Amino acid sequence: TYVIAEPCIDVLDRACVEECPVDCIYEGARALYIHPDECVDCGACEPVCPVQAIFYEDDVPNQWEAFTDDNARFFTDTLPGRSQPVASPGGATTIGRLGVDTNLVAAHPPVST
Ligand code: F3S
Ligand code: F3S
Repeated sequence: TYVIAEPCIDVLDRACVEECPVDCIYEGARALYIHPDECVDCGACEPVCPVQAIFYEDDVPNQWEAFTDDNARFFTDTLPGRSQPVASPGGATTIGRLGVDTNLVAAHPPVST
C-alpha cells in the first residue's frame, strides 16, 4: 500500500484524491488516509502531492514510519464520535469527509500553512 504521512496534516491539498483510480483516499479532519486494503499500489497519487506526503510503504522515511500503521488504524479503530470503525467502504467519494482523525494526527500540533 501507499501511505500518507505527516506533511499532509493541515494541508489537505486533495490532488491525490483526483488521481486515485480506486477512490481509496479518505478524508479525516486534518489529514487524508489511504486504505491499505483498497489501494492497488498504482502509485498515481505520489507525484501529485505538492508537499510530498505520500510514500510507498517500504519507502516511508523513518521519522514518519508510525504513519503506516496509522493509516490502517483510521479504518480499523473506532474513532472519536463514531459508533463503529470506518472499515472498508469501497469508495471515499460516496462517504465523503469523515471529519475525525486518528490519535496520532489529532495530537499533532497545528501546522500553519
Ligand atoms: Fe494530503 Fe498531499 Fe493528498 S497534502 S490530501 S496527501 S495531495
Ligand atoms: Fe490510489 Fe495511490 Fe493507491 S492513487 S491506488 S492510493 S497508490
